[in-house]
Amino acid sequence: MIEEILPPNVVVAEAYDDSAPAELYPEEARLVANSVDSRRREFATARLCVRRCLAQLGLPPGPLLPGRHGAPRWPESVTGSITHCTGYRVAALARTSDVAMMGIDAEPDHPLPAGVLESIALPGEIARLRGLRAADPGVCWDRLLFSMKEAVYKAWYPATGRRLDFGDADIEVDAAATSFTARILPSGPRNSGGAALLKGRWTARRNLVVSAVVVPKVVAAPRAQSGRTPAS
Ligand SMILES: CC(C)(COP(=O)(O)OP(=O)(O)OC[C@H]1O[C@@H](n2cnc3c(N)ncnc32)[C@H](O)[C@@H]1OP(=O)(O)O)[C@@H](O)C(=O)NCCC(=O)NCCS
Repeated sequence: MIEEILPPNVVVAEAYDDSAPAELYPEEARLVANSVDSRRREFATARLCVRRCLAQLGLPPGPLLPGRHGAPRWPESVTGSITHCTGYRVAALARTSDVAMMGIDAEPDHPLPAGVLESIALPGEIARLRGLRAADPGVCWDRLLFSMKEAVYKAWYPATGRRLDFGDADIEVDAAATSFTARILPSGPRNSGGAALLKGRWTARRNLVVSAVVVPKVVAAPRAQSGRTPAS
């Protein structure tokens, strides 16, 4: 279901249960050796999704290990993102020649526990959620906002090496266009590099809310020709 909100140059593999987990490489298995069973299963299913994506890109399988702060260390020439929640596991990958930043996140379409919204949302975001809820009470907009922030973080951190708190991104949702914009606020000390605007898409189906942020790689335009040849 996430395919509908991703551009065509992003490949996707998804699973709705853990019936076909990957056989883990020893270095992957070590990472979850002491984890609870459910974590081991979601990890192995997501690794299978990653290998399916690599195959779609014509790349061989291999262990996918975490780097700093848990961000996956993708093979060279590839970037991507992983999410898992109850009933859904997804990997999305693209060539770094096409995509500069990518983050995906899925959550159950259930309201956030009491008190959580106030700790993850800015006052302006909470006010805008009221409008979204009034227009379409069928979507858990608070959970979707949380998912969007997670997707923003997963795109932002690996590309910049800078962590974000939930208050560091101000998200505006366009319900009709199933899109959103995240303004990374420049005020925090972690973001002293300046403001940035990330665009994302969202969907809510099958009791899930899903968000994706994909920043295309900008290819420099060729320089205008002067019309002179070296000999002229
Ligand atoms: C890292 C984090 C975003 C993961 O999200 P989650 O909803 O808990 O879990 P998900 O299943 O959706 O995603 C887990 C996957 O995210 C990826 N991930 C973990 N840390 C990451 C990071 N620093 N950067 C990018 N991706 C990361 C991993 O691939 C992980 O799966 P794996 O361990 O099986 O490889 C979340 O735990 C977190 O730390 N959030 C706080 C920071 C934040 O979101 N700030 C909001 C800023 S606006």
